[in-house]
Amino acid sequence: MKIGIIGSGNVGKALAAAGTRAGHTVTLSARSPEKAQEAAKATNSHAAGSNQEAVKDADLVVLAVPADKVDEVLGSLASELDGKVIVDVTNRVDVKDPGQVLDGSSMAEHIQKRAPKAHVVKAFNYAFASKMSDPKVGGTRLDGFVAGDDEAAKQKALEFIESIGFRPLDAGPLTMARALEAMGLLNIVLQIRNNWPWQSGWKLAGPTGDEE
Ligand SMILES: NC(=O)c1ccc[n+]([C@@H]2O[C@H](COP(=O)([O-])OP(=O)(O)OC[C@H]3O[C@@H](n4cnc5c(N)ncnc54)[C@H](OP(=O)(O)O)[C@@H]3O)[C@@H](O)[C@H]2O)c1
Repeated sequence: MKIGIIGSGNVGKALAAAGTRAGHTVTLSARSPEKAQEAAKATNSHAAGSNQEAVKDADLVVLAVPADKVDEVLGSLASELDGKVIVDVTNRVDVKDPGQVLDGSSMAEHIQKRAPKAHVVKAFNYAFASKMSDPKVGGTRLDGFVAGDDEAAKQKALEFIESIGFRPLDAGPLTMARALEAMGLLNIVLQIRNNWPWQSGWKLAGPTGDEE
């Protein structure tokens, strides 16, 4: 699969490393081409000179930028995203006042409104970057939830998520991104309140068809 990742930070690099390891062709962009080149070198992937170049031939476009940069990025891409599968990994984070974030909306739905001809799915946001490149805890495969309205787009994202080591789970329509975004925030709040080392990931216990 050809994966275009916008953002070369913690998440961009973790997914690029995992993606190339799984045999995908990954291209990264950042605000500056130099940053993208640095990240590409560290992850065996390719650097794009612009966001446009990163998405041009991509089967999956991963949006791995801070939530407050999403509108800027979408504004610069416009019709280039038409027909593309966008994997939204973003989280709004407010640990002091979580209610500001848990307001019944989601970044993924916002992105879908801004890019109506793209197929947006929510994934990865509930995992820490360290677990995206190694989605196992004590030999247990972490759950990789994907929410989205377009079935073909969701299948593509599930295929990618499984290829890099998560247990792929269809989490329902794009509105379920609200729950996945809350899970991302919950995982962050749990680390802070319990002084945990930011290495936990989500795994649903019980009879869920997982033989592990
Ligand atoms: N870190 C985690 O463990 C984690 C886990 C789950 C979800 N998330 C979410 O994933 C997103 C990315 O997090 P992160 O930790 O990877 O952030 P980060 O390390 O700060 O990296 C953000 C990246 O976005 C790039 N960027 C910003 N504006 C851009 C633009 N206009 N065009 C292209 N690239 C742009 C930055 O470019 P430069 O390098 O040039 O500055 C940087 O490479 C956030 O929404 C975060 O909430 C993070």
